[in-house]
Amino acid sequence: MKVLIVGSGGREHAIAWKVSQSPRVDKIYCAPGNAGISEYAECVDIGAMEFEKLAAFAKEKEVDLTVIGMDDPLVGGIVDVFEAEGLKVFGPRKNAAILEGSKAFSKDLMKKYGIPTAAYENFDDPEAALAHLETARMPIVLKADGLALGKGVLICNTLEEAREGVRSIMTDKKFGAAGNRMVIEEFMTGREVSVLSFVDGKTIRIMTSAQDHKRAKDGDQGLNTGGMGTFSPSPFYTDEVDAFCKQYVYQKTVDAMAAEGRPFKGVIFFGLMLTPNGPRVLEYNARFGDPEAQVVLPRMKNDIVDVFEACVEGTLDQIELEFEDNAAVCVVLASDGYPVAYEKGFEIRGLEQFRGSADRFVFHAGSKYQDGRIVTNGGRVLGVTALGANLKEARANAYEAVELVDFDNKYFRHDIGKAIDEA
Ligand code: AMP
Ligand code: GLY
Repeated sequence: MKVLIVGSGGREHAIAWKVSQSPRVDKIYCAPGNAGISEYAECVDIGAMEFEKLAAFAKEKEVDLTVIGMDDPLVGGIVDVFEAEGLKVFGPRKNAAILEGSKAFSKDLMKKYGIPTAAYENFDDPEAALAHLETARMPIVLKADGLALGKGVLICNTLEEAREGVRSIMTDKKFGAAGNRMVIEEFMTGREVSVLSFVDGKTIRIMTSAQDHKRAKDGDQGLNTGGMGTFSPSPFYTDEVDAFCKQYVYQKTVDAMAAEGRPFKGVIFFGLMLTPNGPRVLEYNARFGDPEAQVVLPRMKNDIVDVFEACVEGTLDQIELEFEDNAAVCVVLASDGYPVAYEKGFEIRGLEQFRGSADRFVFHAGSKYQDGRIVTNGGRVLGVTALGANLKEARANAYEAVELVDFDNKYFRHDIGKAIDEA
């Protein structure tokens, strides 16, 4: 069969690699893809937001299944466009992708259905938001309602910072239209865990847990990024946490979406915080995490194409997910200066050392071909993933593998997975 993947980052590279493992697949396309993805897929020069062109391409090439990796096209309604053309597509429709597309929606959903999350209020008007701050406890968390490249969350320690934050989101529109509404919520403390799941509208199947490292610098210092590295499983995701979330979070979210007339098919990513009062939902995403996919998918035993199809067809109850009893660590290699300002266009050397390996992978986030060489083409450039029998081994393997590739201005964190020493 033929599969089309929509997206161009490390997550889509991991999906393309996993799809390439399926004996059922003989052709993969990726739009727009990147230099690394082109090892498994024919990259097609159509942007992820060009829905009509993508659907026309899928029809012309008789693509059997399209997988949407990224949030923007999902929230924009790409799945509805494909379905209207009679094409098989994996991902939530627009009315369900709102689970990620609007934080105000997701907070209201959790409140209505009793899913544990931080106390909050939504605001359409900056004056009302400012008035609310006067009696609020600090620190406090401000969130732009819409998609903001993972940067629309501000944690404010003082009233003055919070006032400034409301103005920058709602008045100055720092995150554009995403800031037409905002959520102001209680600040929580605890460890964060990412849990990905497959959903077919009714049934949910949980994947193995992971943890991201969002800050740019070692010791969780520096600015928030798209993610500087991940490990899986998270030793903090205990059986007790799992049992709690199975009772109060996962199925309840799926049932809530169905009850709202917004049945969710695709991946729900639960961003959890393990607070002293128990697990709380920080956020939902409507797709695989990046770079969570880069540690979760290499550990998955199932043929992912079977799982994608079961989600689309509503037969996920017939599938059990299986993961290797091992561990994975992904270290992101970025361009020095990311997430603010950085240079691109440097040759990436050493990639051939990963070819054919079954326990270390290099997933490209921002790379392209230039004059026959692969060069850096983004803030996050590569995600180097290594497997190991346990987390410590996987971490040692990942940091060894990081030395195999090189490019000018290569930057990475040295403490990905360090938290496991405290487990
Ligand atoms: P989000 O995009 O909602 O996941 O938020 C980005 C990051 O902000 C999270 O990964 C947390 O580190 C932090 N964050 C979000 N909400 C809260 C909260 N209520 N309390 C403390 N930290 C938060
Ligand atoms: N790694 C966090 C995300 O994909 O949003």
